[in-house]
Order: sequence, then structure tokens, then C-alpha cells
Amino acid sequence: MRVLLTGRDGQVGWELERLLDDVVAIDRTALDLSGRGIAEFIASVKPEVIINAAAYTAVDKAEAEKDAAMRVNGIAPGILAEEAKRLGALLVHYSTDYVFDGEKQAPYVEDDAPNPLGAYGASKLEGERRIRASGCRHLIVRTSWVYGARGRNFFLTMRNARQPLRVVDDQHGVPTSSRFLAEHTVSLIDKKVEGLLHLVPSGSTTWYGFARQILGEKSAITPIRSSEYQTAARRPANSVLDNRKAQALLGGALPDWRSVLAAVR
Ligand SMILES: NC(=O)c1ccc[n+]([C@@H]2O[C@H](COP(=O)([O-])OP(=O)(O)OC[C@H]3O[C@@H](n4cnc5c(N)ncnc54)[C@H](OP(=O)(O)O)[C@@H]3O)[C@@H](O)[C@H]2O)c1
Repeated sequence: MRVLLTGRDGQVGWELERLLDDVVAIDRTALDLSGRGIAEFIASVKPEVIINAAAYTAVDKAEAEKDAAMRVNGIAPGILAEEAKRLGALLVHYSTDYVFDGEKQAPYVEDDAPNPLGAYGASKLEGERRIRASGCRHLIVRTSWVYGARGRNFFLTMRNARQPLRVVDDQHGVPTSSRFLAEHTVSLIDKKVEGLLHLVPSGSTTWYGFARQILGEKSAITPIRSSEYQTAARRPANSVLDNRKAQALLGGALPDWRSVLAAVR
């Protein structure tokens, strides 16, 4: 099965490339998703599966660069989808917990209404919409708080930070390792799963709880409120994704986020 993988140097793309056999893995220099030539490139590769692991992921910067975020996260996935449709290929695409506004008092299920608070979330939601509208075979995987042993992420930031630290304790989510995501994505493709899916480990925490789990109970970390840590983009107070549909499709319980973290260190 010939796979075209975008974002090969990203957190998830890097893990995926190592799990796939027949893969054409590309970075921005091979194909810039904010530019022209996407359709022609795909037509020349003729993949059976396209995995789009590339994205504009700078949540705060996106507030000042709305057009750039929309080109990569909103418009490009639509072009990938049109080409997937033309080829009869499956498009696997990642989306985000930040499509939700965080007002719900329980984990978000796939059918909950999105209402993004910021430009990043809005651009990712537009990507979802265009993929669905194309009518191509697709699997949209929403995930959250992605980290791993390489890349730019909260896990490495905490490990390299000098204590004492102040970390936000009123945003709830599910830390998800890039390897967890890549491994389960491959299983979902093998099982021919299509549609929209929330894929995260089980359980949930706050950024403060995540930091404590990374650095240990004796670490010097003070919990603070979001209002004490100003960022350009507003973030949802609750972006916990419900993974029960993924568990049913994958045929078993997904591990707790703490045991997924333990496997990364
Ligand atoms: N990170 C998270 O916490 C998180 C949370 C929820 C959902 N997600 C979603 O999960 C997916 C994977 O995220 P990730 O954490 O692996 O992202 P990442 O580490 O930021 O990697 C994204 C990759 O996309 C590439 N890219 C950006 N703009 C591009 C362009 N114009 N043309 C071609 N390539 C471009 C980047 O290349 P450069 O290095 O050249 O910029 C990078 O290799 C994304 O869809 C993301 O929205 C992530």
C-alpha cells in the first residue's frame, strides 16, 4: 500500500515514517502546503493512502498569521481531499481538541458541536469541513496535547526548564504521545476505519498535573490560573476528548495518559 506522508519532520510524521513500509515521506521543501502545486505533486506520486501529518501548529502565532494558518490547515487539506477523491485514495488527517470552546462539563464526543476560540482551531475546523465536503474516503483523527522525545512540546520544555515553575492548572486535557498516535493511526488504517475519531489515551489532567507527572512530586511547581499566564490565543478550559469510539474500533481499552508518558521517558 503506497502511502504519501506529509510533515515527515513533525512530531507525529517522524514516528509515522518509522512505522510505514511503502512510504513517500515529504517535508516542506518537497511540497509547501501553503503554496501551489499540491494537486500536481499528488498526481505524480499516485498514493493509495495520503497521511497529512503537516500543519501550522503555532497556536499563538496563528492569531497574527490567520491567513498563513488557514492556507495550511484549512485550504490545503481540501486540495489533498479532492486529489484523494480523484485517485480513490484514503486521506488520513489530524485535527485538534481546540475546535471546541471548552464550555462542556464532560469529555467531548465526536458529535459535539465545535466552536473554536482562536485562529488555529478555526483553521483546523475548516480543514475538517473541506475534507468532509469533498466526498473522499477519509479518517479525521482529533487529538490533543501532543508531545514526544523530539520536537517542540510541553514535555521537553518542562524537562529543560529551570525550577521553580508556574504552570496553568485550570485547563483540562489529555496529553498524547506522538508514538501513541502514530501506532494507533496505523492500526486504524489496517482496520479500514473511516470517519471522525477522537484518539487520545484514557484519563485527563491539567498542564500543572502533566508537569508534575513529568518532573515528579518533589518538583518545585506552583499551580496558577490561565489569567495569570497571558497568551495571544485563548484556550479552552476543558478540551478533554472522549476516546470511547476509538476504544471500540481498536478493540480494547486505551492506556492511561500516565502509562503512555512513562513509555516516552
Ligand atoms: N502539537 C499538538 O499539541 C497538537 C494537538 C492537537 C492536534 N495536533 C495536530 O496533530 C498533527 C501533527 O502535529 P505535530 O505536533 O506533529 O506538529 P509539528 O510537530 O508542529 O509538525 C508539523 C509539521 O508540519 C510541517 N509544515 C508546517 N507548515 C508547512 C507547510 N506550509 N508545508 C509543508 N509542511 C509544513 C512542519 O514543517 P516545518 O518544521 O518546516 O515548519 C512540521 O514538520 C497536526 O495536524 C496538528 O494540528 C497537534
